[in-house]
Amino acid sequence: MDADQQGVIASPVAIGSSRGGPVDHTLRRDRWWVRPAATGAALLAFAVYSTWAAFTNTHYYAGPTVGRDYLSPFYSPCISSNCAFKFGPVVGSWWHLSPALLVLVFPLGFRTTCYYYRRSYYRSFFRAPPACAVPDAPKRYSGESRFPLLAQNLHRYFLYFALIFNVVLTFDAVEAFRFPGGFGVALGSLVLTVDAVLLWLYSLSCHSCRHLCGGRLDLFSQHPWRHAIWRRLSVLNKYHNRFAWASLFWVAFTDFYVRLVASGAIHDPRLF
Ligand code: FES
Repeated sequence: MDADQQGVIASPVAIGSSRGGPVDHTLRRDRWWVRPAATGAALLAFAVYSTWAAFTNTHYYAGPTVGRDYLSPFYSPCISSNCAFKFGPVVGSWWHLSPALLVLVFPLGFRTTCYYYRRSYYRSFFRAPPACAVPDAPKRYSGESRFPLLAQNLHRYFLYFALIFNVVLTFDAVEAFRFPGGFGVALGSLVLTVDAVLLWLYSLSCHSCRHLCGGRLDLFSQHPWRHAIWRRLSVLNKYHNRFAWASLFWVAFTDFYVRLVASGAIHDPRLF
């Protein structure tokens, strides 16, 4: 039974238009552009702030002078000898630029190749496509099979580095509970802890992480541990977009908070 026989009036429609057409060649009448515009603005704001923070090379460590042990996540791990924190040096005294420039390529590479962010910035910045049923701006589409988008396939390798970085940032969070008189808790301790937790949730909910644990298996029944881990990661995976945004915002906020404390602009309240 076709649609007319069921009493439904079927009208032929052409959704969108050909590739490379203007975005107003769409049948959509809702405000479809709000989401890509807001996403683009948020990603741009993060890019501007993180670039400034990485190059500024000051106030990234709130140390003994303010009675704290907080390192900005943008500068962690601190691996050059010109770094104010004590983790290094892995890189010798020949490095004179900001220590953040040595490490940021890994978390940024992880984020820019993330499947969720790809979808977001392809829509917001490349309009490929801007939204469902809205024409693509590019006239041709070769997917991610050619340079430079071929590099998106490096995502799984960035994941390995991200997991190592998470261990280091967890160490930083634990250090944030260390005070001159011993163990304690301040607002900054909690800020760094939330940062580490969100980064773990973001990494563990990653599609590549899920595949790493449960992919390429013919029979889950022969790998009960991997199946158990895969099932738990699958639960996290459903919320990957939320963890992506929450961790993005919080990592910038953590850097900002450490700066305020390190520069003496605010007093970091001690809870006990
Ligand atoms: S898919 Fe987003 S971090 Fe891997």
